[in-house]
Order: sequence, then structure tokens, then C-alpha cells
Amino acid sequence: MPNAPIYVTMPALAPLEEFNTLLQGVWERGILTHNGPLVQQFERALSAKLQLPGFVATTNGTIALQMAIKALKLQGEIITTPFTWIATISAIQWEHCTPIFADIDPHTLNIDPGSIEQRITDRTVAIMPVHVFGNPCDVEAIQTLADHYGLKVIYDAAHAIGSTYNGNSLLTQGDISATSLHATKLLNTGEGGGCITKNPALQESLKRIRFFGHNEQRDIVEEGFNGKMTEIHAALGLANLTYFDDVLADRKSKYARYKEAFSAHPHIRLQKLQFGETNYSYFPIIFDREEALLDAVARLEAAQIYARRYFYPSVNTFKKILADQQAPISEEIARRILCLPLYHRLTEQAIDRVIRMIGS
Ligand SMILES: Cc1ncc(COP(=O)(O)O)c(C=O)c1O
Repeated sequence: MPNAPIYVTMPALAPLEEFNTLLQGVWERGILTHNGPLVQQFERALSAKLQLPGFVATTNGTIALQMAIKALKLQGEIITTPFTWIATISAIQWEHCTPIFADIDPHTLNIDPGSIEQRITDRTVAIMPVHVFGNPCDVEAIQTLADHYGLKVIYDAAHAIGSTYNGNSLLTQGDISATSLHATKLLNTGEGGGCITKNPALQESLKRIRFFGHNEQRDIVEEGFNGKMTEIHAALGLANLTYFDDVLADRKSKYARYKEAFSAHPHIRLQKLQFGETNYSYFPIIFDREEALLDAVARLEAAQIYARRYFYPSVNTFKKILADQQAPISEEIARRILCLPLYHRLTEQAIDRVIRMIGS
């Protein structure tokens, strides 16, 4: 029998009956949205699971980033990383701020604190780092810079659910962290996301912003929009949350299998995990030459194995929406990095096939 195609990722899903049971209640209540009981239950359950000071569930991770910028009332330049998904940048631009790119550390692939400092001016209002592939940033160095220069920190923690720092959820770092619960993330609601902050006033503001800026009396007290999660998405989140530990443990062991195969490879290196503990959500490999990556992609595709060039290209090179800014390290890494298939249902045999196809 021919081998089935292997994709770079697939969603981790709870048994359908468990989702259906939760949907039964939604149908009975007839409440589909507007901060319904399942959204509230999901927020409480996720906060308890990860020991968060609260979770403000949103439509998606991009809106969560925009809500964070709005809640902090930022206007000006936000220093961020070019080695990210375009959503980091579009969130900044939709909130009428200007993205300024610091370059990345070539080993951790996260924003380089030294490069951040070089870009701070009197127009800088915040830093927006990304925990790339779930790998924690150098959060202490970033907080030291923010304190010194009086800047806010918003973490784009889209990849980082389940990552930790000093034993605590990484999502508690910064003034606000914004995560994604998109289908490809370790915990998913189909589409979804959320904001986390230790500051109760900011938490209240985030809740108003996602509901058009309404306060409890239905007065509009700040600029907002529709950032609400629906009951259907919350039901999927609740069902999937039951299996979250399982998904995390599975990812870690599959990551270890790939790591063993590639850590001594003469032409491939791996992302350095230096601060805190990652959630092992992706397995990126960095080739020494782009040609070697293209050869590997061609071999894999011929065998119906679909790895993904991610992040590629470095987002500072999107000239149609951005003014010219250089980030040579990010641009170079983006050309040579490939994320290998990694997901819950992926079998060990499939991983071994991918390893063999990449070769030595
Ligand atoms: C780094 C990063 N930031 C933000 C987002 C946006 O998240 P969402 O797709 O939930 O809007 C993504 C999406 O995967 C991402 O990879």
C-alpha cells in the first residue's frame, strides 16, 4: 500500500463525542456568543490549568495582539522581530503604530536584546518580541531594557501555550501576552486566542475592548471592536483542554526523536533552547545552504511529505507594506530554515521516514 501524505501539522482533537456533549448544552441554552457560559468556563479552566491570573478569550491571536496594543494605549514605534508571521506586524499597523525591526539571535531565533537597544529612540513606546516556535525569549534582559527606557512589553506568545519560564507559564510575562488557539497550536479552538495580564485594570479594559468598548452599563468608554470568542469555539477548547497534557508530552517525545537524529548532523543545526522550557511545538532545522534546503524539500515532496519553510521570508522584506529596513541575520536564517512534520497523530514510523529522506 502506498504511504499516505504527511503534512507539516494537523490539529490535536478530542474525541468527537466529547465535543458533541458540550454542543448539546449550547443548543439547549440557545446562547452562541456574547461572553457565554462556555467561554467563561473555558477562561476559568485554562487559567486554572496554567496558573494564569486570568485569560481573556478572543476571536484569534491577531486580534489579541491588537487588543493588547489598544489596552496599553500605545502610539508610536514598537520594536519587534522580523522573524515572525506577518500577523505580528499587521497588528501593530492596524493599531496605527510603526513596526521597527531589531534583528534576531542566530541561535535561539528570538529577538536579540542588544539589537533592541540599538533601535530605541524617543519615539519608541513598546517592545513586541515573539517566543519563536514556543522557545522562550530572554525575558529578563527584555524586561531590564523596558524598565530602563520606560517601555511596555507585549509578548506575541502565539506559539507559546505550554511553554514555561522558571516553572511558571510563559504567558505571564510582559505587561500583556497574546496567544493563539489556532488549529495548528498545541491547544486549539479552531480559530481563537487570548490575552493574559497580571494587571486587573488592564484585564477589565481588554474585556471591554473585545466587546466594542462597552462597560457594564452599556456605555462606550473606550475604542473597541468585536473580538469575542463564540460558544462553539469555547466548546472545542474545553474538549481539547482535557487532552492538553497528553499533547504536550507527545510533542516532547517526538521532538526528542527528531533531535537525536539531527543533533550531530554535519550540515544541519537546531534552534538553541536557552531560556526556560519550550513546548516543543515545532521542529525547525537550519541547513548550512539554501540549496541543500531546496533539495531536501524536493525529495520530501516527491514522497508526499510536506515540510514548511517557516518563517519565510523574513517579514521585513515585504516591501509592499513596509518601509525598507534591514535585518540580515533574520533574512539569512529565513532562507535556510525548514519546519518538519510534527503533530499528535504523526507516527514514529513516519518521523523515521522523514529523517531518512532528509538524509545525512
Ligand atoms: C508568531 C505569530 N503571531 C501571531 C499569529 C496570529 O495568530 P492567529 O492565526 O490566531 O490570528 C501567528 C499565527 O500563527 C503567529 O505564528
